[in-house]
Amino acid sequence: MLDVLLDGLASLEYRGYDSAGIAVEAGEDLWRARAATGTRSLDDLRKLASAAPAGVFAGIGHTRWATHGAPVEANAHPHLDCTGTVAVVHNGIIENCRELSEMLLGEGHDLISETDTELLAHLVERELATGASLADALRATLRQVEGAFALAVMWPGEPGTIVAARRVSPLVLGRVDIAGPPTAGPGTAGPGTAGPPTAGPEGCQWMLASDVPALLGRTRTFWVIEDDQLAELRAGSMRVTTLAGKDVEPSELHVEWDVEAAQKGGFDDFMSKEMHEQPRAIADTLLGRALPGGLLALDQMRISDEELREVDKVVVVACGSSYHAGLVAKFAIEHWARLPAEIDIASEFRYRDPILDRRTLVVGVSQSGETVDTLQAMREARRWDAKVLVISNVVDSSMAREADGVLYTRAGPEIGVAATKTHLAQIVALEVLALYLAQLRGIIYPTEVERLLDDIARLPELVQLALDRSDSVRAVAAKYAATRDFFFLGRNVGFPVALEGALKLKELAYLRAEGYPAGELKHGPIALIEPGTVVVGVATRTRLWEKMMGNIAEVRSRGATVVLVANDGDDQAGSEADDVLWVPATHPVLAPVVDVVPLQLFAYHLARRHGHDVDRPRNLAKTVTVE
Ligand code: M6R
Repeated sequence: MLDVLLDGLASLEYRGYDSAGIAVEAGEDLWRARAATGTRSLDDLRKLASAAPAGVFAGIGHTRWATHGAPVEANAHPHLDCTGTVAVVHNGIIENCRELSEMLLGEGHDLISETDTELLAHLVERELATGASLADALRATLRQVEGAFALAVMWPGEPGTIVAARRVSPLVLGRVDIAGPPTAGPGTAGPGTAGPPTAGPEGCQWMLASDVPALLGRTRTFWVIEDDQLAELRAGSMRVTTLAGKDVEPSELHVEWDVEAAQKGGFDDFMSKEMHEQPRAIADTLLGRALPGGLLALDQMRISDEELREVDKVVVVACGSSYHAGLVAKFAIEHWARLPAEIDIASEFRYRDPILDRRTLVVGVSQSGETVDTLQAMREARRWDAKVLVISNVVDSSMAREADGVLYTRAGPEIGVAATKTHLAQIVALEVLALYLAQLRGIIYPTEVERLLDDIARLPELVQLALDRSDSVRAVAAKYAATRDFFFLGRNVGFPVALEGALKLKELAYLRAEGYPAGELKHGPIALIEPGTVVVGVATRTRLWEKMMGNIAEVRSRGATVVLVANDGDDQAGSEADDVLWVPATHPVLAPVVDVVPLQLFAYHLARRHGHDVDRPRNLAKTVTVE
């Protein structure tokens, strides 16, 4: 059972690795171990776990990405109450933690950590003292709590029981059917009677996790715990209710990925594996969507063509790399569909009184489909009656379930924290969406769409060519191993590529990298250019190539060292650069898909040279389920 917990945590490390911890039942007591050694936390936890009691029946575990309180052991989950018997693990943020902690301190509770999670353990303790069951104690606790949570609680006063609940932060449930005598897994288990999901067959394990990879190798049977639902897992049974205690039937979760898809497959790290999967990710994202004769089929769109024809404005909302994909979409939608398109950072959008109505199409772009900023932005859009479409890589993610329509990228699981294959797949999905809207609005003919689809269909091959040059990118990166500051410049569709290249360098190599629209440089930032400043320019032959080259001349004349992403055979661009990252040419609006590849590789090689863990960069989490 300990293996189940620890392996599950290993596959969730991308959600945070500041610390890791477990608590398991040990007779009438709890046994807890925690380690807060950054990226070594889980290895250290495994060593500590060798001292765990034998015959463990139920347990909970957590990998942390710090929000309240420093990443030290005292703040690592699971957290305990004053009696040391109520254990809680929690993702999310409790927003009224100040009031709650004042109340608990006033009542004499001993708060040991700086976390909001510990408050939950003490609140449950308070309710248990009234004679409530664990489930009722948690229900009463959650009535006092504001904010976001996916949490699990255990208490040896009810052996073999784990109670879990969710609001905003994701939580999935799995059942493992086992032949032979009943055994147990994290989330609790035991013999059941019949029929999913309220009871399992003889000898089944119930498991809970904040994401599917933790359960993938163990089961293919999943359900999703929805907002404001509570799951009671006991030996022999499982029950899902609302927080008010009304029984509900949890919805089944459809998962197409297998375990192999979530493993390294011979590469040094997930990031290089995932970069090399990019051609496949694009091809899979296109499967069945581009039909002969220039027709497009968008499965699970769920928004009718009539409704889409009425759309008079598109607003794209997203964060990080997904936001950069959204910036490309703005060009594609305006260019092909001739619709006004806005793009906003999700965390800003929902707090700025957006002007939306039923003719607005809001497109949420999110690899995980769980990023809380984007999820809340989409909820805000629905409040205004806008049509909401999500581009997500995770089937049945929270956003996918809540949106009016979904366009799945089919990149497979992305484990490396840095978005790579999902970013490219997002751009492709958004370009296809732009063409779909253009066709619906009668702006372009099927023959023209067919030609463009031919160009899109060639993208996997072109991306492969760009990947094949990894060694030359590594050689260029080696020349800049001592550089601490970089400028990334681009124009038109090259601007989002510059932003993405800069983001990759920041998050992976911890180097200062500023992404800028090249035409804006002369309005201030050019003051920073001095002899030796390194400027990386996206100078492929897109719409504003000449102007981009003019901007490059401006920085060169001030002594900058210039690295250009340029198209194969473009001697003119080559002669203006100290180093060139060559890429094959494609249609100008599709160029970001290919042009970003050498910048991913550039950041990857520099990060490795500096000795950084490319899969788990410091301070980051793959899925950001806090605001
Ligand atoms: O899951 P999402 O696409 O919503 O995540 C949004 C960002 O957190 C994400 O794109 C982040 O910027 C990347 N991991 C950076 O490589």
